Parts: sequence; structure tokens; C-alpha cells
Amino acid sequence: MKHYTSIHDIDDINSWIEEAKALKLTPLKHLELGRNKTLGLLFFNSSLRTRLSTQKAALNLGMNPIVMNVSGDAWGIEFGDGTVMNGNTAEHIKEAAAVVSQYCDIIAVRAFPTLTDKVKDESEEVLNAFKKYASVPLVNMESATGHPLQALTDAITISEHKKKDKPKVVLSWAPHVKALPHAVANSFTQAMQKMDVDFVITNPEGYDLSPDIVGDTPIIHNQEEALKDADFVYVKNWSSYEDYGKVVNTEPSWMITKEKLGDAKFMHCLPVRRNVIVEDAVLDSDSSIVIQQANNRTYAAQLVLKKILENA
Ligand code: CP
Repeated sequence: MKHYTSIHDIDDINSWIEEAKALKLTPLKHLELGRNKTLGLLFFNSSLRTRLSTQKAALNLGMNPIVMNVSGDAWGIEFGDGTVMNGNTAEHIKEAAAVVSQYCDIIAVRAFPTLTDKVKDESEEVLNAFKKYASVPLVNMESATGHPLQALTDAITISEHKKKDKPKVVLSWAPHVKALPHAVANSFTQAMQKMDVDFVITNPEGYDLSPDIVGDTPIIHNQEEALKDADFVYVKNWSSYEDYGKVVNTEPSWMITKEKLGDAKFMHCLPVRRNVIVEDAVLDSDSSIVIQQANNRTYAAQLVLKKILENA
């Protein structure tokens, strides 16, 4: 594997899950693999988990991570081809990506969507520009439309906690005050489509994800019906795809409660707004596996970096 930019870069999700579990048991076993190699982490947006777990993953492989907050700390980067750069951007991605490639053996990038321009967001302008102009492998740390490191983490976590061969997994929309990206929900959906699970999505009318992502996965607009007999409830807000980037519903009755969760395990990528997305009683109970889930971010990232280093 050269790059990890999408869940489709995973050739066999079950073998990846088993390999990640093995790494978790002996995280320092491959300390020599990354010796004298540098991982550059470029953040156009905020992060807690991705920033720390990806650095930890690199350190576990003996790599040297270097981190930059691109927005604010770096020169404004121009992505347009042939642009007369007499505005706010000072450096073109052609030079920026080429220069960073000389300092790093792998580059990881986080760049969120505009949520105002669907065509631009779906073109994955920032991620694809790095892929085109960098000369080293690229890792997606959450782009406009996908968060494949999170989705690999989620797949590992479900595999660890499942009590039956084919668990029922529900992805449920929940209300939020701000317009949020589709990336986590998209990649989670794609990961579940690769796993042996009974998977359904539930969201209010007007919040269906892109049909290209949903494919044959059932969407049930009645949350109570969808949650019936669930083993895992993965909760996430996303803005409307149809009325692109808009908040068209903040219906509080979609918040996840202990009663709605029943015997299922609660999952969320974090950060989560308490008593908006999910009530305290869920997060503060043993039904919540969000902390264990966040721990697996390290091993998902470590597996991805390991596979790239082995291929170099
Ligand atoms: N889940 C996740 O990507 O968390 P951060 O935004 O804190 O990195």
C-alpha cells in the first residue's frame, strides 16, 4: 500500500483487524521499522485524538513525528492551477508539497470540507493536491468526505466487543447546534459494508448521506424502529447532504438516551456534546465504549504506518 486516503485502501478488513489487535498486544515490536524515518502531520483543522494517537503510533514504530498547524502558522497555500496569486495565498501547493516531501518519509493531512461547495468538497481538493504534488506516501487524517483512520478504529473496536458472529450495528444521526461534515459517517458506513454485520442507518428525512456512500444499506427514518435489537449504536451528527451543509433539523428527540440504547454498546468518534448528542447517563455507564474506541486510534494508525513503511 502506497497511500491510505480512503477505506477502500484496505484490501481485507478482517485481516487488518487481526493485525491491529496483534499490534495492540505488542506495540513496540516493530521499533526498528521506522528508525530514522520522519512522519509529518499537517493540520488545517483542530484535533485532539488524531493528533496525539498518530504521533503515538509513529513513536511506537520508532519514527520521528513532526507536526504543523498549517492554518495560522504556515503561509496561506494556493490550490488553484494558474491562479494569479495576488490575494491572501502566498505559496502554491506545488512548492509546499514538494518541500515537505524532502523533510518527511510519510505525510499525513487533515483538511475539513467547506460545507458550502459540494463539488469542491467532493473533489477532495486539498488531499488530492498533496497526493499529486508530494513525492512520499500520504495518510488521510480526515478529509472533506472521509475519515478512514477513524473507521478502521471503529471496525477494530466492534470486532473486540462483539458477542455474536454477526452483530447488529446502527449508525444513528443525532442533533447538533453546528453544521458538521459527513466524513466520519461516510467512512464508518463504508467500513461496515466491508464487515460481516447487520448494518442500518437511521436519520431524519433530509439527512440521508450521499447515495454513492449509502449504496444498498437500509436507511430507516424511524429511530426507534432502527434501534430495535441493536448490539452497537454508533452516534454521529452530520449536516444535510441534500441541502448541502445546512442544519435542517435540530430535533432533540433524536438524542441517544439510556432507555433508547437498551443493551447495546454506545460508540462515538469524539469529541461529543453531552446532553445534546447523548445523555450523561449513557456516557457515564458501562454501555459506553468511547474511551476504548479512542484508544484504538493508536493501533489503527500504527497499522497503516506499518503497512506503508513495509511497502517503501
Ligand atoms: N475522532 C477524531 O478524529 O478526533 P479529533 O478530531 O480530536 O482528532
